[in-house]
Amino acid sequence: MLSNEIRDKFLKFFQTQGHVVVPSSPVVPNNDDSVLFTTAGMQQFKPYYIGGADAVQDFGSLNLTSSQKCVRTSDIEEVGDKSHLTFFEMLGNFSFGGYWKKESIEWAHEFITRELGLTIDYVSVFAGEPSTSSGQGGVSEDKESEEIWKSIDPDIVIKKFGRADNFWGPTGKEGPCGPTTEIYVDGIEVWNIVFNEFFQREDGSLEPLKTRGIDTGMGFERLVKVMQKTETVFETDLFAPLMRVANSRIVVDHVRTSAFMISDGVMPSNTGRGYILRRLLRRAYVHARKMDMGTEVLNSVADAVVNHGSYKGLYAFAENIEVVMMEEIEKFKKALDAGLKQVEKGEDPFILFTSYGLPLEIIEEVTVVDKESFNKQLAEHKRLSQEAGEHKFSAQKDISANQEGRKN
Ligand code: GLY
Repeated sequence: MLSNEIRDKFLKFFQTQGHVVVPSSPVVPNNDDSVLFTTAGMQQFKPYYIGGADAVQDFGSLNLTSSQKCVRTSDIEEVGDKSHLTFFEMLGNFSFGGYWKKESIEWAHEFITRELGLTIDYVSVFAGEPSTSSGQGGVSEDKESEEIWKSIDPDIVIKKFGRADNFWGPTGKEGPCGPTTEIYVDGIEVWNIVFNEFFQREDGSLEPLKTRGIDTGMGFERLVKVMQKTETVFETDLFAPLMRVANSRIVVDHVRTSAFMISDGVMPSNTGRGYILRRLLRRAYVHARKMDMGTEVLNSVADAVVNHGSYKGLYAFAENIEVVMMEEIEKFKKALDAGLKQVEKGEDPFILFTSYGLPLEIIEEVTVVDKESFNKQLAEHKRLSQEAGEHKFSAQKDISANQEGRKN
């Protein structure tokens, strides 16, 4: 089944069950300054759980479904394995005070097994968390979900995990969260059903949500991989046309994510979102260069993302994506060439950090680095900068600045 058919099937299935299809919001959230990027389908719907907005008024229904553009760079080191990506779409169905566990589990089971014809390896449910010795917290085991799964299929394998595995949210500093039940197919967690019943405050304490609700997330690219029975996501019809242009998973992933960021208004810079975009483009360029591919290959990948990447919303931004990307990469290429020339002449590679602002991860890709000496110099540099009262290190933040304390 083609990826476009899978996405349509999902949205139509939930439409048939009384959900309104809502378009994806941008990858830059407009309702929450505490997150850099949209990391889940529920991000645009946060106010409907908290009680600050009315879904019936805004969408004509308590029950919604979407395919949301998401960016997560906390797992960037994992990119290139079978299923990790920095940009992905998240299929989801949502309810704010409408249906609850029974319907959401039954529909998930029906969609996976009957609509897609997949076999579930096992499911997981929340094992519960005892309260602390001071009597704080404590969330009870999710017996209800276990019973629902057993009533659907008495033979289904049910595993139970605690807070680290079967509890989701919040995105950002505070927000809705709750126990989950997850569905595994071919060894991959394909679907996460979150029972949002708590609001987590900044201090970590939980209080009951105004409107308890359902928030599900199914990573689209992973699902396509499972459906198309490929070795990794990169052989699916979502990525095959891009891999034909540049046979590098990192180049393809990073250019694809950059294209979506730029189309949603992010510009390369030294802070926040712009810095993440800058790092992705630099990393893509350095990897292409290592494989003896010129800068134009990045442009060709972006072109393939726009025209063959199975996402229809990018056409209008094609020119802008190209201009922003190429300008940034050409500037970087010049700086890198100048820096490397100095290193060739005998300068310590550490100057690539001090004078050219390159992080170690990139310096290591372009030249030989004595890590121990580099880290010593880095520590000394930081100490001196602090003494001088400078606070320039915010710009050197690790790319995992988008880390939101959550698993992928
Ligand atoms: N919001 C549920 C998930 O991202 O899995």
